[in-house]
Amino acid sequence: MNNLTGKVAFITGAARGQGRSHAIELARAGADIIAVDIAHDEPELGLGYPLGSQEELAETAKQVENLDRRVVTAHVDVRDGQAIGAALRSAVAELGRLDIVVANAGIAASSIPAHEITEAQWEQMLAINLTGVWKTCRAAVPYLIEGGRGGSMILTSSAAALRVYQGIAAYSAAKHGVVGLMKTMAAELGQHSIRVNSVHPTQVDTPMIMNNETYKIFRPDLEHPTKEDFEEASASLHILPVAVADPLDISKAVVFLASDDARLITGITLPIDAGLLLK
Ligand SMILES: NC(=O)c1ccc[n+]([C@@H]2O[C@H](COP(=O)([O-])OP(=O)(O)OC[C@H]3O[C@@H](n4cnc5c(N)ncnc54)[C@H](O)[C@@H]3O)[C@@H](O)[C@H]2O)c1
Repeated sequence: MNNLTGKVAFITGAARGQGRSHAIELARAGADIIAVDIAHDEPELGLGYPLGSQEELAETAKQVENLDRRVVTAHVDVRDGQAIGAALRSAVAELGRLDIVVANAGIAASSIPAHEITEAQWEQMLAINLTGVWKTCRAAVPYLIEGGRGGSMILTSSAAALRVYQGIAAYSAAKHGVVGLMKTMAAELGQHSIRVNSVHPTQVDTPMIMNNETYKIFRPDLEHPTKEDFEEASASLHILPVAVADPLDISKAVVFLASDDARLITGITLPIDAGLLLK
């Protein structure tokens, strides 16, 4: 099934995890790919895991090329609107058009009560997980409008925008904010046949969550929770018998939303959550 043949998709946070999976699956469906990522670690963010690397972004590109699709990569921090604009300008010039945007780049939170989060922690979370999404969209929308063929924008939010996880107020606020942005843009851009939707994954098997810092969000009862402790807690949140989603589960939804099969779907918050929201 190559229902995206001839289209071009722009994906942020594409070095690994869900972003890499989205790049590969959109390519498998026929799209050429613009894959960007910060592509270096920033220890001062104080995350319990490293960010994506240049090598990982290059591996994403290789896997797209193996599918006989064209790919352009760039090292871009979504906090830097000018850098996003410059990368997109040269990539669209090379690939000729833009049809699909997946605003996926994001960071995880540490478990801290809302009233103990520092201003720096709050601001960095909002800068990447909310303002970075807006900057991505702001840079991309003119190309979709100018293309005159409509388009599909998929914003990566989280189940944390649709239910409460204690200890991650800044992350949750950013992901709720993504929904406000998504709905507003869906309303504004519908006249151009540009659809805007958000995806809301449950826990996904990526480096962002598979680390000791994130395990503590799910096991506040344990001082040093293990992967098994985390998976037990994660599974208990689901109706379906799975501990964590695979990135491919989210990519399948992204490819659907990107395709004309979803041509009347805009402004929705799509959970991919193994029934988490039923509990
Ligand atoms: N893993 C989960 O359980 C889960 C659940 C729900 C939502 N999400 C969301 O899914 C998205 C993808 O996360 P993932 O699970 O693939 O994690 P991941 O850490 O494997 O991948 C995220 C990618 O984004 C990149 N990135 C981070 N900050 C960036 C910045 N400022 N500029 C550009 N790139 C940046 C990283 O380098 C990395 O390659 C995030 O928005 C995350 O919040 C994840």
